[in-house]
Amino acid sequence: MLGKFIVFEGIDGAGKTTQLDLLGRELENRGYPVVYTREPGGTRVGELIREILLNPLYGELAPRAEAFLYAAARAQLVAQVIIPALEAGKIVLCDRFVDSSLAYQGFGRGMDILMLEQINRPAIAGLVPDLVLLLDFCCDDAIDRLSRSGRGADRIEQEQQEFYRRVRLGYLSLAGREPGRYNIIDANRPVDLVLCDILKAVGEVLNEVTERNNRA
Ligand SMILES: Nc1ncnc2c1ncn2[C@@H]1O[C@H](COP(=O)(O)OP(=O)(O)O)[C@@H](O)[C@H]1O
Ligand SMILES: [Mg+2]
Repeated sequence: MLGKFIVFEGIDGAGKTTQLDLLGRELENRGYPVVYTREPGGTRVGELIREILLNPLYGELAPRAEAFLYAAARAQLVAQVIIPALEAGKIVLCDRFVDSSLAYQGFGRGMDILMLEQINRPAIAGLVPDLVLLLDFCCDDAIDRLSRSGRGADRIEQEQQEFYRRVRLGYLSLAGREPGRYNIIDANRPVDLVLCDILKAVGEVLNEVTERNNRA
């Protein structure tokens, strides 16, 4: 695959969307073709699934049905957006990916991680991120940031702080399994400092491409 697949992960309020936009603008300024996308959603079908997943109206959603819906939205995103963009040599910036399912449903709500991985395997069709930027964020600050931003709490955001703590530790444990692919970024700092670390990590991934092309 010619392009690069860069994923942002972290609990709600960690700054994923903020940093993804800033990184994208910076990369565009440097002349890279960038594709922005988010999970769940990012496609017409995916956005419909997102509505079911995040709307408190559907609170009866069974955990396993929820897991399949996330995986279904992901499968559509991979097939319709991510793979074509990577094949066209673009840099794909994705707000959440498989690790969100593992961290939230697995570590957060206690579903079997192995089962979640099995559900997701066909959805991602072998696609793995070139880089996962894990915005590691202290949960108490998360609640603060979200209430200050006046953003309406969706179904997931209404859940307890203890839950966020488990999710955060889950993310760290996922990153620990594959340290080469993950970059853990301290997100409890001002936006520009966080961005600085992100640019460094992304720079390394992009330099790899340049070096490989130079050698060829
Ligand atoms: N480093 C930061 N310091 C202070 N506030 C921040 C920082 N990054 C983001 N915010 C603010 O916190 C809120 C949540 O950020 P957002 O990027 O939407 O997080 P996420 O997408 O991870 O849920 C927003 O109001 C945003 O402006
Ligand atoms: Mg966001």
